[in-house]
Amino acid sequence: MSSEVKFPDGFVWGAATAAYQIEGGWNEDGRGESIWDRFSHTPGKVLNGDTGDVACDHYHRWREDIALMKDLGIKAYRFSTAWPRILPQGRGKVNPAGLDFYSRLVDALLEAEITPFVTLYHWDLPQALEDQGGWPARETAAAFVEYAGATTRALGDRVKHWITLNEPFVSAFVGYRDGRHAPGRTSLEDSFAAAHHLLLAHAHSLPVIRQNAAGAQAGIVLDIIPAYPASVSAEDQQAAWMARAAHHLWFLEPLVGRGYPQAVADYFKMKLEFIQPGDLNAMAAPLDFLGVNYYTRRIARSAEIAEEDNLPVTVTAAQHKTEMGWEIYPQGLLDVLVWLNERYTFPALYITENGGAFPDALDEKGQVLDEDRVAYLREHFRMSAAAIQEGVPLKGYFAWSLMDNFEWGFGCSKRFGLIYVDYESLKRTPKLSYAWYRQVIRQNGFAD
Ligand code: NOJ
Repeated sequence: MSSEVKFPDGFVWGAATAAYQIEGGWNEDGRGESIWDRFSHTPGKVLNGDTGDVACDHYHRWREDIALMKDLGIKAYRFSTAWPRILPQGRGKVNPAGLDFYSRLVDALLEAEITPFVTLYHWDLPQALEDQGGWPARETAAAFVEYAGATTRALGDRVKHWITLNEPFVSAFVGYRDGRHAPGRTSLEDSFAAAHHLLLAHAHSLPVIRQNAAGAQAGIVLDIIPAYPASVSAEDQQAAWMARAAHHLWFLEPLVGRGYPQAVADYFKMKLEFIQPGDLNAMAAPLDFLGVNYYTRRIARSAEIAEEDNLPVTVTAAQHKTEMGWEIYPQGLLDVLVWLNERYTFPALYITENGGAFPDALDEKGQVLDEDRVAYLREHFRMSAAAIQEGVPLKGYFAWSLMDNFEWGFGCSKRFGLIYVDYESLKRTPKLSYAWYRQVIRQNGFAD
């Protein structure tokens, strides 16, 4: 007997993208250089030398892309505005052509009855600001507030869902500590300062957003990777806690007024001298929602046990992985949502990203039969519905991604889209997962 997985009326089904990953048009109509332009133009930084110069050419094909969204039936579309399009030098002179692009996009979305969810910062810092110190410099937070002001003044009459930052963990620690993302710096101290200034940018922009977009819902998006202990030993449990603390708790705790987890600062021997009076208070300003990006989990072992047994500290289950090498673990999504709701009291949660990269290819009939992605989505939808059943105020789900796009350090080699993009012809081909998702949206659920 088949049962049904049902979602509440008004559940916000959506899809997400980000400016640098889809737009292209990198030097058109007055757009300034971003750290990702500089990084991807530096040989050896991005796989196969790929860049976002053209990407999906969404900058020119946005009408076609909105038609596809409309056909898909999504209720909301999450995209980001490119800071260097709007303020080419990071602050100071606004580029009206940049704002116009987003203004037209927003109008067309509203006409298609698709609610825009706008992310202000999805990793494309103007290079001019990086040259003045980047996120480790406190001034960058002030520049962000200026940018948030200009953008919300122009779009705030029509856009009522605003996200300040996307995954600040990645901006700070992958960009300034690991160096795998732009700007490619490798300083532990700078990465902690960057994280603080990102949170400050978030905090100081909230009142500006609320002032310019009357009645707006404002939030932030965090990447949450739950870490499970490899064994029941106290050491492994502690390792799992530390893996979470140094990742998402570092952002969540100050956002709810609990300050930074001291054990993490001690572990990394960080003095956190960049904190100024009033900073932590500002960061604790209430949010209308928290956006959760969920892809996978980690399994943590204590360093001592790992060293003794010659094992890695984090392990990935060998089977059932996406093309990124990330374990597919739908249960983790339910665990994360329930945990967030128990530990914190955000008025609403959205899954702002979830999805997988799979080895998609056009078959001889010109179709992409991505059954693995359909299975991935189905299991994660099931967990989303279960979370709602358990009382989690989950209001919506955004698939990552609407279409294949530039996957940062991996270039165009990883495909996450519901729509296949041929990077030569730029032709879009909806995949099987697109058709399946359309059905789910229409029925607001699916037969199990
Ligand atoms: C999270 C990021 O926000 C997005 O830009 C990226 O493409 C996906 N993860 C997949 O890695």
